[in-house]
Amino acid sequence: MRGDGRSQSLLIAQITDLHIGFEPGNPDEFNRRRLDAVFAELATVQPRPDFIVASGDLTENGDLVDYLTLKAIFDASPVPVLPMMGNHDLRETFWEVFPEVPGHDGFVEYVVDKGPLRILLLDTLEVGRHGGAFCDIRARWLDERLAETDKPVVVFLHHPPVQTGIDWMTINAAEPWAAKIEAVIARHGNVVAVLAGHIHRSINVAWAGTRISVCPSTAPQVALDLREIDPANPDGRPLIVSEPPAYALHLWNGQTLLSHLGLADGHAVLASYTPQLQPMVEGMLVEREAAVAVS
Ligand SMILES: [Fe+2]
Ligand SMILES: [Fe+2]
Repeated sequence: MRGDGRSQSLLIAQITDLHIGFEPGNPDEFNRRRLDAVFAELATVQPRPDFIVASGDLTENGDLVDYLTLKAIFDASPVPVLPMMGNHDLRETFWEVFPEVPGHDGFVEYVVDKGPLRILLLDTLEVGRHGGAFCDIRARWLDERLAETDKPVVVFLHHPPVQTGIDWMTINAAEPWAAKIEAVIARHGNVVAVLAGHIHRSINVAWAGTRISVCPSTAPQVALDLREIDPANPDGRPLIVSEPPAYALHLWNGQTLLSHLGLADGHAVLASYTPQLQPMVEGMLVEREAAVAVS
């Protein structure tokens, strides 16, 4: 981090697809324990993130009790949490519990101008639909928010508007809502990354002159299987797997956005920065500085 202009840096944590309420009436449900593990892991992250984006599917069924559970969890976090909508959420119930979260035209979409970046948190929910949606009202709002800033922009949305290779979860490339977002973002050229959820896997793809990165879920992950799926043939393939709860850390270093993936799986530390390993670290840093000196 030396010499990289820390005053111009910003560290954003992302959690997604919490699916609280998958086991209704069970306050100790599996998804809650996985979410708690992620918050416990995030509490150890140094430097501390500036904020956490929770990019949709906060709940399983949009139930009031589950938003109340999440409010208690978010309120207890030392880092502010910015919540968003996914296809499993309900705006009205969400806003009953989180009335301070801004929106426009009935959508939970808002801007956070934070330090060197503009953050746009989009709403791709269409109630009753599993996949994404983005109407002309939302497209115009996105267009205006991109046009009015001279800062680099990071866009968060729940549904990645691109084919992801996970056949049963992904979009059809011809879906108009995705093309609509792509056209707006490509036209402005100031979006440094589009950060999504929904697929419950880690995926990165170049798109619209920027990139889409999908963060894996805190809830169980979707199986890594890139074969086509036949709706007429339930072939027994794994769909959901218990890979560890995950989160992402997105670092704006003053020039570009770096995205790291973290796992809250109770992994052990196998080596620490002790005097025993100091020569190794010192040697690597000396080598690095020497490479600059001779260039
Ligand atoms: Fe989800
Ligand atoms: Fe989703």
